[in-house]
Amino acid sequence: MIFNPSVGVSVFKRKTQAIAGLSAVIAFFTLSSAVLAADAELIARGKYLAKGADCSACHTNGEAGAAFAGGYAIHSPMGEIYSTNITPSKQYGIGSYTEEQFARAVREGVRPDGGHLYPAMPYPSYSRMTDEDVKALYAYFMNEVPAVDAPAKETKLPFPFSIRASMIGWNLLFLNNERFMPDAGHSAEWNRGKYLVDVLAHCGDCHTPRNLLMASDSSQYLAGGDVGPWHAPNLTSDKVSGIGGWSDEALQSYLLTGKSEHARTSGPMAEAVQHSLQYLTVDDTKAMIAYLRTVAPIRTAGQTAPDFSHGEAATSYDIAATASRRGGTVLTNTMDGADLYEQVCASCHQSSGAGTRDGFYPALIKNTTTGQANATDLVATIVYGVQREVGGHETLMPGFGEKSLVQPLTDTQIASVSNYVLKTFGNASAKVTPQDVATIRAGGPEALLAKLADPKILAAVGIAGLVVIVAVLAAVLRRRPRATA
Ligand code: HEC
Ligand code: HEC
Ligand code: HEC
Repeated sequence: MIFNPSVGVSVFKRKTQAIAGLSAVIAFFTLSSAVLAADAELIARGKYLAKGADCSACHTNGEAGAAFAGGYAIHSPMGEIYSTNITPSKQYGIGSYTEEQFARAVREGVRPDGGHLYPAMPYPSYSRMTDEDVKALYAYFMNEVPAVDAPAKETKLPFPFSIRASMIGWNLLFLNNERFMPDAGHSAEWNRGKYLVDVLAHCGDCHTPRNLLMASDSSQYLAGGDVGPWHAPNLTSDKVSGIGGWSDEALQSYLLTGKSEHARTSGPMAEAVQHSLQYLTVDDTKAMIAYLRTVAPIRTAGQTAPDFSHGEAATSYDIAATASRRGGTVLTNTMDGADLYEQVCASCHQSSGAGTRDGFYPALIKNTTTGQANATDLVATIVYGVQREVGGHETLMPGFGEKSLVQPLTDTQIASVSNYVLKTFGNASAKVTPQDVATIRAGGPEALLAKLADPKILAAVGIAGLVVIVAVLAAVLRRRPRATA
Protein backbone atom coordinates (compact mmCIF):
# COMPACT_ATOMS: atom_id res chain seq x y z
CA MET A 1 0.00 0.00 0.00
CA ILE A 2 1.38 3.28 -1.09
CA PHE A 3 1.36 5.83 1.56
CA ASN A 4 -0.19 8.91 0.20
CA PRO A 5 1.22 11.68 2.21
CA SER A 6 -1.19 14.21 0.92
CA VAL A 7 -4.10 12.17 2.15
CA GLY A 8 -2.41 11.71 5.49
CA VAL A 9 -1.61 15.36 5.70
CA SER A 10 -5.01 16.40 4.68
CA VAL A 11 -6.60 14.06 7.22
CA PHE A 12 -4.21 15.35 9.82
CA LYS A 13 -4.98 18.91 8.74
CA ARG A 14 -8.66 18.36 8.89
CA LYS A 15 -8.29 16.82 12.33
CA THR A 16 -6.26 19.69 13.65
CA GLN A 17 -8.62 22.13 12.04
CA ALA A 18 -11.51 20.34 13.61
CA ILE A 19 -9.76 20.28 16.99
CA ALA A 20 -8.76 23.88 16.68
CA GLY A 21 -12.28 24.74 15.61
CA LEU A 22 -13.73 22.71 18.43
CA SER A 23 -11.48 24.24 21.05
CA ALA A 24 -12.30 27.67 19.66
CA VAL A 25 -15.96 26.82 20.01
CA ILE A 26 -15.36 25.48 23.51
CA ALA A 27 -13.34 28.56 24.37
CA PHE A 28 -16.10 30.73 22.95
CA PHE A 29 -18.76 28.99 24.98
CA THR A 30 -16.74 29.01 28.17
CA LEU A 31 -16.01 32.67 27.70
CA SER A 32 -19.50 33.66 26.75
CA SER A 33 -21.07 31.58 29.49
CA ALA A 34 -18.77 33.39 31.90
CA VAL A 35 -19.94 36.65 30.41
CA LEU A 36 -23.53 35.42 30.48
CA ALA A 37 -23.17 34.37 34.11
CA ALA A 38 -21.82 37.81 34.95
CA ASP A 39 -24.68 39.38 33.03
CA ALA A 40 -27.21 37.08 34.62
CA GLU A 41 -25.89 38.01 38.03
CA LEU A 42 -26.01 41.70 37.23
CA ILE A 43 -29.52 41.41 35.84
CA ALA A 44 -30.70 39.44 38.87
CA ARG A 45 -29.24 42.08 41.14
CA GLY A 46 -30.97 44.78 39.10
CA LYS A 47 -34.26 42.95 39.46
CA TYR A 48 -33.85 42.78 43.22
CA LEU A 49 -32.97 46.47 43.36
CA ALA A 50 -36.02 47.35 41.29
CA LYS A 51 -38.13 45.57 43.92
CA GLY A 52 -36.30 47.23 46.79
CA ALA A 53 -36.68 50.64 45.18
CA ASP A 54 -40.36 50.01 44.43
CA CYS A 55 -40.14 51.00 40.73
CA SER A 56 -43.14 48.90 39.74
CA ALA A 57 -45.56 50.45 42.24
CA CYS A 58 -45.57 53.68 40.26
CA HIS A 59 -44.61 52.51 36.78
CA THR A 60 -47.20 49.73 36.46
CA ASN A 61 -50.80 50.78 36.03
CA GLY A 62 -52.58 48.47 38.46
CA GLU A 63 -53.16 44.77 37.91
CA ALA A 64 -54.37 45.16 34.34
CA GLY A 65 -51.40 47.24 33.19
CA ALA A 66 -48.31 45.66 31.60
CA ALA A 67 -45.28 45.66 33.89
CA PHE A 68 -43.40 48.99 33.81
CA ALA A 69 -45.48 50.31 30.89
CA GLY A 70 -46.40 53.43 32.86
CA GLY A 71 -49.67 55.31 32.81
CA TYR A 72 -50.25 55.03 36.54
CA ALA A 73 -52.00 58.22 37.60
CA ILE A 74 -50.59 60.20 40.47
CA HIS A 75 -53.40 62.43 41.69
CA SER A 76 -52.68 66.07 42.19
CA PRO A 77 -54.89 69.09 42.66
CA MET A 78 -53.86 70.49 39.26
CA GLY A 79 -54.37 67.28 37.35
CA GLU A 80 -52.93 63.82 36.98
CA ILE A 81 -49.20 63.15 36.65
CA TYR A 82 -48.73 59.90 34.73
CA SER A 83 -45.72 57.68 35.23
CA THR A 84 -43.84 56.93 32.02
CA ASN A 85 -43.17 53.72 30.10
CA ILE A 86 -39.80 52.45 31.37
CA THR A 87 -39.76 49.21 29.37
CA PRO A 88 -37.00 48.91 26.72
CA SER A 89 -39.38 49.92 23.92
CA LYS A 90 -37.31 52.10 21.58
CA GLN A 91 -40.28 54.17 20.55
CA TYR A 92 -42.29 54.57 23.74
CA GLY A 93 -39.97 53.55 26.55
CA ILE A 94 -36.33 53.88 27.51
CA GLY A 95 -35.02 51.42 24.88
CA SER A 96 -32.74 53.97 23.26
CA TYR A 97 -31.39 55.42 26.53
CA THR A 98 -27.70 54.91 27.21
CA GLU A 99 -26.74 53.89 30.71
CA GLU A 100 -25.65 57.44 31.32
CA GLN A 101 -28.99 58.86 30.20
CA PHE A 102 -30.82 56.34 32.35
CA ALA A 103 -28.66 57.28 35.33
CA ARG A 104 -29.38 60.96 34.81
CA ALA A 105 -33.14 60.38 34.69
CA VAL A 106 -33.15 58.21 37.82
CA ARG A 107 -30.71 60.24 39.94
CA GLU A 108 -31.13 63.78 38.67
CA GLY A 109 -34.65 63.83 37.26
CA VAL A 110 -33.51 64.92 33.79
CA ARG A 111 -34.61 63.18 30.58
CA PRO A 112 -32.26 62.73 27.61
CA ASP A 113 -34.07 65.59 25.83
CA GLY A 114 -33.19 67.84 28.77
CA GLY A 115 -36.76 67.91 30.09
CA HIS A 116 -37.09 67.92 33.88
CA LEU A 117 -39.13 65.30 35.70
CA TYR A 118 -41.56 66.26 38.45
CA PRO A 119 -40.39 64.95 41.81
CA ALA A 120 -43.41 62.63 41.71
CA MET A 121 -40.53 60.45 40.53
CA PRO A 122 -38.46 60.12 43.74
CA TYR A 123 -35.12 61.10 42.17
CA PRO A 124 -34.20 63.25 45.21
CA SER A 125 -33.85 59.96 47.17
CA TYR A 126 -32.42 57.95 44.28
CA SER A 127 -29.77 60.61 43.67
CA ARG A 128 -27.53 58.84 46.17
CA MET A 129 -27.79 55.49 44.37
CA THR A 130 -24.37 53.99 43.64
CA ASP A 131 -23.05 53.63 40.08
CA GLU A 132 -23.02 49.83 40.46
CA ASP A 133 -26.67 49.77 41.41
CA VAL A 134 -27.69 52.04 38.53
CA LYS A 135 -25.72 49.75 36.21
CA ALA A 136 -27.53 46.68 37.55
CA LEU A 137 -30.93 48.37 37.24
CA TYR A 138 -30.12 49.38 33.67
CA ALA A 139 -29.05 45.82 32.80
CA TYR A 140 -32.29 44.48 34.25
CA PHE A 141 -34.58 46.94 32.47
CA MET A 142 -32.79 46.55 29.13
CA ASN A 143 -32.46 42.77 29.14
CA GLU A 144 -35.25 41.25 31.14
CA VAL A 145 -38.20 43.60 31.15
CA PRO A 146 -40.36 42.89 28.06
CA ALA A 147 -40.65 45.92 25.78
CA VAL A 148 -44.16 47.33 25.62
CA ASP A 149 -44.67 49.24 22.38
CA ALA A 150 -47.47 51.42 23.55
CA PRO A 151 -47.43 54.99 24.79
CA ALA A 152 -48.21 55.74 28.42
CA LYS A 153 -50.84 58.39 28.95
CA GLU A 154 -49.24 61.79 28.69
CA THR A 155 -49.05 64.21 31.59
CA LYS A 156 -50.71 67.47 30.64
CA LEU A 157 -50.79 69.87 33.53
CA PRO A 158 -52.29 73.28 32.94
CA PHE A 159 -50.09 76.37 32.84
CA PRO A 160 -48.07 77.32 34.93
CA PHE A 161 -47.64 73.81 36.23
CA SER A 162 -46.66 72.69 32.74
CA ILE A 163 -43.30 74.51 32.99
CA ARG A 164 -40.95 71.66 33.75
CA ALA A 165 -37.93 73.94 33.78
CA SER A 166 -39.11 75.31 37.11
CA MET A 167 -37.68 72.18 38.71
CA ILE A 168 -34.22 73.59 38.06
CA GLY A 169 -34.68 76.07 40.90
CA TRP A 170 -35.95 73.47 43.30
CA ASN A 171 -33.16 71.06 42.40
CA LEU A 172 -30.61 73.78 43.10
CA LEU A 173 -32.10 74.25 46.54
CA PHE A 174 -32.82 70.70 47.55
CA LEU A 175 -31.24 68.11 45.27
CA ASN A 176 -28.07 66.85 46.86
CA ASN A 177 -26.58 65.21 43.81
CA GLU A 178 -24.02 63.11 45.63
CA ARG A 179 -23.58 59.35 45.73
CA PHE A 180 -23.90 57.36 48.94
CA MET A 181 -20.59 57.09 50.74
CA PRO A 182 -20.20 54.34 53.35
CA ASP A 183 -19.31 55.64 56.80
CA ALA A 184 -16.10 53.90 57.87
CA GLY A 185 -17.04 54.45 61.52
CA HIS A 186 -19.87 51.94 61.20
CA SER A 187 -20.24 48.28 60.23
CA ALA A 188 -21.02 47.07 56.73
CA GLU A 189 -24.46 46.02 57.99
CA TRP A 190 -25.21 49.51 59.32
CA ASN A 191 -24.11 51.08 56.03
CA ARG A 192 -26.23 48.67 54.03
CA GLY A 193 -29.18 49.51 56.30
CA LYS A 194 -28.71 53.25 55.90
CA TYR A 195 -28.46 52.86 52.12
CA LEU A 196 -31.68 50.85 52.04
CA VAL A 197 -33.58 53.22 54.35
CA ASP A 198 -32.40 56.48 52.76
CA VAL A 199 -31.86 55.64 49.12
CA LEU A 200 -33.54 52.50 47.82
CA ALA A 201 -36.61 52.10 50.02
CA HIS A 202 -36.76 55.87 50.58
CA CYS A 203 -38.55 55.56 53.96
CA GLY A 204 -37.99 59.25 54.65
CA ASP A 205 -40.12 60.29 51.67
CA CYS A 206 -43.07 59.43 53.88
CA HIS A 207 -41.69 59.30 57.43
CA THR A 208 -39.81 62.63 57.44
CA PRO A 209 -41.99 65.76 57.52
CA ARG A 210 -41.65 68.29 54.67
CA ASN A 211 -41.02 71.99 54.79
CA LEU A 212 -43.13 74.61 53.03
CA LEU A 213 -41.38 73.92 49.73
CA MET A 214 -42.14 70.23 50.21
CA ALA A 215 -38.51 69.21 50.67
CA SER A 216 -37.70 66.84 53.54
CA ASP A 217 -37.01 68.65 56.82
CA SER A 218 -33.70 67.12 57.83
CA SER A 219 -33.92 68.46 61.39
CA GLN A 220 -36.93 66.17 61.84
CA TYR A 221 -35.37 63.15 60.12
CA LEU A 222 -37.82 60.20 60.34
CA ALA A 223 -39.85 61.91 63.08
CA GLY A 224 -43.14 61.27 61.25
CA GLY A 225 -44.79 62.86 58.23
CA ASP A 226 -48.14 63.12 56.49
CA VAL A 227 -48.84 61.15 53.34
CA GLY A 228 -52.10 62.38 51.84
CA PRO A 229 -54.83 61.18 54.21
CA TRP A 230 -52.42 59.01 56.25
CA HIS A 231 -49.79 59.73 58.87
CA ALA A 232 -46.45 57.90 58.69
CA PRO A 233 -45.37 57.60 62.36
CA ASN A 234 -42.10 58.43 64.07
CA LEU A 235 -39.37 55.87 63.21
CA THR A 236 -36.60 57.35 65.33
CA SER A 237 -35.03 55.28 68.10
CA ASP A 238 -37.00 57.14 70.78
CA LYS A 239 -38.48 54.61 73.23
CA VAL A 240 -41.70 56.58 73.72
CA SER A 241 -42.47 58.35 70.45
CA GLY A 242 -40.48 56.22 68.01
CA ILE A 243 -39.82 52.53 67.48
CA GLY A 244 -37.28 52.24 70.31
CA GLY A 245 -39.72 50.05 72.22
CA TRP A 246 -40.31 47.61 69.35
CA SER A 247 -38.34 44.36 69.38
CA ASP A 248 -36.23 43.41 66.36
CA GLU A 249 -38.65 40.52 65.72
CA ALA A 250 -41.68 42.84 65.68
CA LEU A 251 -40.01 45.21 63.24
CA GLN A 252 -38.82 42.44 60.99
CA SER A 253 -42.22 40.83 60.88
CA TYR A 254 -43.86 44.21 60.19
CA LEU A 255 -41.55 44.99 57.26
CA LEU A 256 -41.60 41.53 55.69
CA THR A 257 -45.21 40.47 56.28
CA GLY A 258 -47.12 43.65 57.14
CA LYS A 259 -48.08 42.21 60.52
CA SER A 260 -46.70 42.63 64.02
CA GLU A 261 -47.81 42.54 67.62
CA HIS A 262 -48.08 46.36 67.69
CA ALA A 263 -49.61 47.20 64.33
CA ARG A 264 -50.52 46.03 60.86
CA THR A 265 -49.72 47.89 57.66
CA SER A 266 -52.41 49.78 55.84
CA GLY A 267 -52.57 52.52 53.23
CA PRO A 268 -49.24 53.51 51.65
CA MET A 269 -47.27 51.34 54.09
CA ALA A 270 -49.23 48.30 52.93
CA GLU A 271 -48.33 49.25 49.35
CA ALA A 272 -44.65 49.51 50.29
CA VAL A 273 -44.74 46.04 51.87
CA GLN A 274 -46.77 44.53 49.04
CA HIS A 275 -44.70 45.85 46.13
CA SER A 276 -41.30 46.10 47.70
CA LEU A 277 -40.38 45.24 51.28
CA GLN A 278 -41.75 41.65 51.33
CA TYR A 279 -39.18 40.78 48.65
CA LEU A 280 -36.16 41.94 50.63
CA THR A 281 -33.87 39.34 52.13
CA VAL A 282 -33.93 38.79 55.87
CA ASP A 283 -30.36 40.14 56.00
CA ASP A 284 -31.42 43.36 54.32
CA THR A 285 -34.33 43.83 56.76
CA LYS A 286 -31.95 43.17 59.64
CA ALA A 287 -29.58 45.77 58.24
CA MET A 288 -32.37 48.35 58.07
CA ILE A 289 -33.35 47.62 61.65
CA ALA A 290 -29.72 47.85 62.81
CA TYR A 291 -29.50 51.27 61.19
CA LEU A 292 -32.89 52.50 62.48
CA ARG A 293 -31.76 51.65 66.03
CA THR A 294 -29.12 54.38 65.70
CA VAL A 295 -31.33 57.16 64.32
CA ALA A 296 -31.26 60.09 66.76
CA PRO A 297 -34.34 59.93 69.02
CA ILE A 298 -36.98 62.63 68.59
CA ARG A 299 -39.66 62.81 71.27
CA THR A 300 -43.08 64.25 70.48
CA ALA A 301 -43.71 67.05 72.95
CA GLY A 302 -45.98 65.92 75.78
CA GLN A 303 -45.92 62.21 74.95
CA THR A 304 -45.26 59.97 77.97
CA ALA A 305 -46.21 56.45 76.85
CA PRO A 306 -45.64 54.50 73.61
CA ASP A 307 -48.52 54.34 71.14
CA PHE A 308 -48.84 50.59 71.64
CA SER A 309 -49.33 50.83 75.40
CA HIS A 310 -52.96 51.96 75.47
CA GLY A 311 -56.08 49.99 76.25
CA GLU A 312 -56.61 47.07 78.59
CA ALA A 313 -57.28 43.48 77.58
CA ALA A 314 -60.07 43.23 80.14
CA THR A 315 -62.12 46.28 79.30
CA SER A 316 -64.94 47.40 81.53
CA TYR A 317 -67.15 46.52 78.67
CA ASP A 318 -70.82 45.92 79.32
CA ILE A 319 -71.57 42.79 77.35
CA ALA A 320 -75.29 42.92 78.13
CA ALA A 321 -75.55 46.38 76.68
CA THR A 322 -73.61 45.15 73.69
CA ALA A 323 -76.01 42.37 72.92
CA SER A 324 -78.97 44.70 72.91
CA ARG A 325 -77.11 47.13 70.72
CA ARG A 326 -76.47 44.43 68.19
CA GLY A 327 -79.89 42.81 68.34
CA GLY A 328 -80.27 42.01 64.68
CA THR A 329 -80.24 45.65 63.70
CA VAL A 330 -79.29 46.61 60.21
CA LEU A 331 -77.11 49.66 59.87
CA THR A 332 -79.33 52.44 61.14
CA ASN A 333 -78.86 56.12 61.05
CA THR A 334 -77.57 56.11 64.58
CA MET A 335 -74.85 58.58 65.52
CA ASP A 336 -74.00 56.70 68.71
CA GLY A 337 -70.42 55.43 68.71
CA ALA A 338 -71.06 52.29 70.76
CA ASP A 339 -74.04 51.34 68.60
CA LEU A 340 -72.01 51.88 65.48
CA TYR A 341 -69.10 49.85 66.81
CA GLU A 342 -71.40 46.93 67.58
CA GLN A 343 -73.16 47.09 64.26
CA VAL A 344 -70.22 47.77 62.00
CA CYS A 345 -66.97 46.64 63.64
CA ALA A 346 -67.60 44.07 66.37
CA SER A 347 -68.31 41.14 64.08
CA CYS A 348 -64.63 41.15 63.21
CA HIS A 349 -62.81 42.98 65.98
CA GLN A 350 -65.12 41.62 68.74
CA SER A 351 -67.10 43.60 71.29
CA SER A 352 -64.12 43.44 73.62
CA GLY A 353 -61.87 44.98 70.96
CA ALA A 354 -59.51 42.04 71.42
CA GLY A 355 -59.85 40.76 67.85
CA THR A 356 -59.99 37.06 67.05
CA ARG A 357 -57.76 34.54 68.82
CA ASP A 358 -55.88 33.62 65.68
CA GLY A 359 -55.10 37.30 65.18
CA PHE A 360 -56.68 37.34 61.76
CA TYR A 361 -58.85 40.22 62.92
CA PRO A 362 -56.46 42.33 64.94
CA ALA A 363 -56.92 43.60 68.47
CA LEU A 364 -57.69 47.30 68.70
CA ILE A 365 -56.11 47.44 72.14
CA LYS A 366 -52.32 47.89 72.50
CA ASN A 367 -52.28 48.88 68.86
CA THR A 368 -50.41 51.90 67.51
CA THR A 369 -53.27 52.78 65.16
CA THR A 370 -55.63 53.36 68.10
CA GLY A 371 -52.88 54.55 70.44
CA GLN A 372 -51.58 57.57 68.54
CA ALA A 373 -52.50 61.00 69.83
CA ASN A 374 -52.96 61.86 66.16
CA ALA A 375 -55.93 59.71 65.12
CA THR A 376 -55.38 60.18 61.38
CA ASP A 377 -54.50 56.54 60.68
CA LEU A 378 -57.50 55.25 62.63
CA VAL A 379 -59.88 57.46 60.64
CA ALA A 380 -58.14 56.66 57.33
CA THR A 381 -58.41 52.93 58.11
CA ILE A 382 -62.15 53.27 58.71
CA VAL A 383 -62.66 55.43 55.61
CA TYR A 384 -60.44 53.51 53.16
CA GLY A 385 -60.14 50.06 54.77
CA VAL A 386 -57.11 47.81 54.46
CA GLN A 387 -55.91 46.11 51.28
CA ARG A 388 -52.66 44.22 51.18
CA GLU A 389 -51.33 41.17 49.36
CA VAL A 390 -48.30 39.47 50.82
CA GLY A 391 -46.96 36.07 49.83
CA GLY A 392 -50.04 35.53 47.68
CA HIS A 393 -52.44 36.06 50.60
CA GLU A 394 -54.85 38.94 50.57
CA THR A 395 -55.83 40.88 53.69
CA LEU A 396 -58.93 42.97 53.39
CA MET A 397 -60.98 45.24 55.60
CA PRO A 398 -63.76 47.11 53.80
CA GLY A 399 -63.56 50.89 53.71
CA PHE A 400 -66.65 52.31 55.34
CA GLY A 401 -66.32 55.71 53.74
CA GLU A 402 -66.22 54.46 50.17
CA LYS A 403 -68.83 56.24 48.09
CA SER A 404 -69.55 53.01 46.22
CA LEU A 405 -71.11 51.50 49.36
CA VAL A 406 -74.88 51.39 49.51
CA GLN A 407 -74.74 53.30 52.75
CA PRO A 408 -71.29 54.71 53.48
CA LEU A 409 -70.84 56.00 57.01
CA THR A 410 -71.19 59.78 57.29
CA ASP A 411 -68.46 62.03 58.64
CA THR A 412 -70.34 62.34 61.92
CA GLN A 413 -70.74 58.58 62.22
CA ILE A 414 -67.06 57.93 61.53
CA ALA A 415 -66.04 60.59 64.06
CA SER A 416 -68.39 59.06 66.56
CA VAL A 417 -67.22 55.45 66.16
CA SER A 418 -63.57 56.64 66.15
CA ASN A 419 -64.08 58.44 69.44
CA TYR A 420 -65.71 55.36 70.90
CA VAL A 421 -62.77 53.18 69.79
CA LEU A 422 -60.24 55.70 71.15
CA LYS A 423 -62.00 56.04 74.49
CA THR A 424 -62.67 52.32 74.98
CA PHE A 425 -59.64 50.61 73.42
CA GLY A 426 -57.01 53.21 72.66
CA ASN A 427 -55.69 56.66 73.45
CA ALA A 428 -58.53 58.33 75.31
CA SER A 429 -56.94 61.76 74.97
CA ALA A 430 -57.31 61.70 71.18
CA LYS A 431 -60.45 63.25 69.68
CA VAL A 432 -61.89 63.18 66.18
CA THR A 433 -64.31 65.75 64.75
CA PRO A 434 -66.54 65.30 61.67
CA GLN A 435 -64.38 68.00 60.04
CA ASP A 436 -61.26 65.83 60.58
CA VAL A 437 -63.06 62.97 58.84
CA ALA A 438 -64.09 65.22 55.93
CA THR A 439 -60.45 66.26 55.49
CA ILE A 440 -59.22 62.67 55.44
CA ARG A 441 -62.02 61.64 53.10
CA ALA A 442 -60.98 64.47 50.76
CA GLY A 443 -57.45 63.00 50.60
CA GLY A 444 -55.67 64.83 53.42
CA PRO A 445 -55.10 68.27 54.83
CA GLU A 446 -55.79 71.09 52.43
CA ALA A 447 -53.92 73.56 54.60
CA LEU A 448 -50.95 73.74 52.30
CA LEU A 449 -53.10 74.15 49.23
CA ALA A 450 -55.05 76.88 50.93
CA LYS A 451 -51.74 78.56 51.69
CA LEU A 452 -50.77 78.30 48.06
CA ALA A 453 -53.72 80.43 47.09
CA ASP A 454 -52.46 83.13 49.45
CA PRO A 455 -50.97 85.95 47.32
CA LYS A 456 -48.23 86.56 49.93
CA ILE A 457 -46.99 82.98 49.60
CA LEU A 458 -47.27 83.12 45.84
CA ALA A 459 -45.13 86.24 45.80
CA ALA A 460 -42.61 84.62 48.13
CA VAL A 461 -42.13 81.35 46.31
CA GLY A 462 -42.99 82.48 42.79
CA ILE A 463 -44.60 80.38 40.16
CA ALA A 464 -41.65 78.01 39.98
CA GLY A 465 -41.93 77.25 43.67
CA LEU A 466 -45.64 76.78 43.25
CA VAL A 467 -45.18 74.24 40.51
CA VAL A 468 -42.73 72.36 42.65
CA ILE A 469 -44.88 72.37 45.75
CA VAL A 470 -47.83 71.07 43.85
CA ALA A 471 -45.76 68.46 42.04
CA VAL A 472 -44.29 67.06 45.23
CA LEU A 473 -47.65 67.27 46.89
CA ALA A 474 -48.88 65.20 44.00
CA ALA A 475 -46.33 62.56 44.78
CA VAL A 476 -47.57 62.47 48.31
CA LEU A 477 -51.25 62.45 47.42
CA ARG A 478 -50.71 59.57 45.04
CA ARG A 479 -50.84 57.30 47.99
CA ARG A 480 -54.57 57.83 48.36
CA PRO A 481 -55.93 54.29 48.25
CA ARG A 482 -58.10 53.28 45.35
CA ALA A 483 -61.75 52.61 45.93
CA THR A 484 -62.73 49.04 46.62
CA ALA A 485 -65.91 47.10 47.25
C1 HEC B 1 -43.34 57.25 43.68
C2 HEC B 1 -43.51 56.91 42.28
C3 HEC B 1 -42.31 56.45 41.47
C4 HEC B 1 -41.36 55.53 41.81
C5 HEC B 1 -41.23 54.73 43.11
C6 HEC B 1 -40.47 55.43 40.67
N1 HEC B 1 -40.86 56.28 39.67
FE1 HEC B 1 -39.88 56.62 37.91
N2 HEC B 1 -41.23 58.08 37.47
C7 HEC B 1 -42.37 58.38 38.17
C8 HEC B 1 -43.12 59.40 37.47
C9 HEC B 1 -44.44 60.00 37.92
C10 HEC B 1 -42.37 59.72 36.31
C11 HEC B 1 -42.72 60.77 35.28
C12 HEC B 1 -42.47 62.13 35.87
C13 HEC B 1 -42.73 63.25 34.94
O1 HEC B 1 -43.39 63.05 33.91
O2 HEC B 1 -42.23 64.34 35.21
C14 HEC B 1 -41.18 58.87 36.34
C15 HEC B 1 -40.18 58.89 35.38
C16 HEC B 1 -39.13 57.99 35.31
C17 HEC B 1 -38.13 57.95 34.27
C18 HEC B 1 -38.02 58.92 33.13
C19 HEC B 1 -38.53 58.27 31.90
C20 HEC B 1 -38.65 59.23 30.75
O3 HEC B 1 -39.76 59.45 30.33
O4 HEC B 1 -37.64 59.74 30.31
C21 HEC B 1 -37.31 56.89 34.51
C22 HEC B 1 -36.13 56.42 33.70
C23 HEC B 1 -37.80 56.28 35.72
N3 HEC B 1 -38.89 56.97 36.18
C24 HEC B 1 -37.25 55.13 36.28
C25 HEC B 1 -37.59 54.65 37.54
C26 HEC B 1 -36.88 53.58 38.19
C27 HEC B 1 -35.72 52.80 37.60
C28 HEC B 1 -37.47 53.43 39.42
C29 HEC B 1 -37.04 52.52 40.56
C30 HEC B 1 -35.63 52.61 40.92
C31 HEC B 1 -38.55 54.41 39.52
N4 HEC B 1 -38.60 55.11 38.35
C32 HEC B 1 -39.37 54.57 40.61
C33 HEC B 1 -42.74 57.83 39.39
C34 HEC B 1 -41.99 56.91 40.12
C1 HEC C 1 -45.18 55.60 50.73
C2 HEC C 1 -45.02 56.01 52.08
C3 HEC C 1 -44.21 55.14 53.02
C4 HEC C 1 -42.97 54.59 52.80
C5 HEC C 1 -42.10 54.68 51.56
C6 HEC C 1 -42.63 53.91 54.03
N1 HEC C 1 -43.63 54.04 54.95
FE1 HEC C 1 -43.69 53.19 56.80
N2 HEC C 1 -45.56 53.89 57.09
C7 HEC C 1 -46.24 54.73 56.22
C8 HEC C 1 -47.55 55.02 56.77
C9 HEC C 1 -48.61 55.92 56.16
C10 HEC C 1 -47.64 54.32 57.99
C11 HEC C 1 -48.83 54.26 58.94
C12 HEC C 1 -49.92 53.41 58.33
C13 HEC C 1 -50.18 52.17 59.06
O1 HEC C 1 -50.31 52.21 60.28
O2 HEC C 1 -50.24 51.12 58.43
C14 HEC C 1 -46.37 53.64 58.16
C15 HEC C 1 -46.05 52.83 59.26
C16 HEC C 1 -44.79 52.31 59.50
C17 HEC C 1 -44.40 51.63 60.73
C18 HEC C 1 -45.30 51.38 61.94
C19 HEC C 1 -45.10 52.49 62.93
C20 HEC C 1 -46.11 52.49 64.02
O3 HEC C 1 -45.85 53.19 65.01
O4 HEC C 1 -47.15 51.83 63.90
C21 HEC C 1 -43.09 51.26 60.58
C22 HEC C 1 -42.24 50.52 61.59
C23 HEC C 1 -42.66 51.71 59.28
N3 HEC C 1 -43.72 52.34 58.66
C24 HEC C 1 -41.39 51.55 58.78
C25 HEC C 1 -41.00 51.94 57.50
C26 HEC C 1 -39.68 51.70 56.96
C27 HEC C 1 -38.52 51.08 57.71
C28 HEC C 1 -39.71 52.16 55.67
C29 HEC C 1 -38.61 52.08 54.63
C30 HEC C 1 -38.07 50.75 54.44
C31 HEC C 1 -41.04 52.69 55.43
N4 HEC C 1 -41.79 52.54 56.56
C32 HEC C 1 -41.43 53.24 54.22
C33 HEC C 1 -45.79 55.20 55.00
C34 HEC C 1 -44.61 54.80 54.37
C1 HEC D 1 -65.09 42.27 57.83
C2 HEC D 1 -64.24 42.34 58.97
C3 HEC D 1 -63.91 43.73 59.50
C4 HEC D 1 -64.77 44.73 59.89
C5 HEC D 1 -66.28 44.72 59.82
C6 HEC D 1 -63.94 45.79 60.40
N1 HEC D 1 -62.63 45.44 60.32
FE1 HEC D 1 -61.07 46.54 60.95
N2 HEC D 1 -59.78 45.19 60.18
C7 HEC D 1 -60.14 44.02 59.57
C8 HEC D 1 -58.97 43.41 58.98
C9 HEC D 1 -58.92 42.09 58.21
C10 HEC D 1 -57.92 44.27 59.27
C11 HEC D 1 -56.47 44.14 58.80
C12 HEC D 1 -55.69 43.11 59.52
C13 HEC D 1 -54.28 43.10 59.02
O1 HEC D 1 -53.82 44.11 58.50
O2 HEC D 1 -53.64 42.08 59.16
C14 HEC D 1 -58.46 45.37 60.03
C15 HEC D 1 -57.70 46.42 60.53
C16 HEC D 1 -58.18 47.42 61.34
C17 HEC D 1 -57.37 48.41 61.98
C18 HEC D 1 -55.85 48.54 61.88
C19 HEC D 1 -55.24 47.73 62.95
C20 HEC D 1 -53.73 47.76 62.92
O3 HEC D 1 -53.18 46.86 63.54
O4 HEC D 1 -53.11 48.65 62.37
C21 HEC D 1 -58.22 49.23 62.68
C22 HEC D 1 -57.85 50.43 63.53
C23 HEC D 1 -59.57 48.74 62.45
N3 HEC D 1 -59.50 47.64 61.63
C24 HEC D 1 -60.72 49.30 62.98
C25 HEC D 1 -62.00 48.94 62.57
C26 HEC D 1 -63.19 49.68 62.93
C27 HEC D 1 -63.22 50.90 63.83
C28 HEC D 1 -64.23 49.06 62.31
C29 HEC D 1 -65.66 49.49 62.28
C30 HEC D 1 -65.92 50.81 61.75
C31 HEC D 1 -63.68 47.91 61.60
N4 HEC D 1 -62.32 47.89 61.78
C32 HEC D 1 -64.44 46.98 60.91
C33 HEC D 1 -61.41 43.49 59.49
C34 HEC D 1 -62.57 44.20 59.77
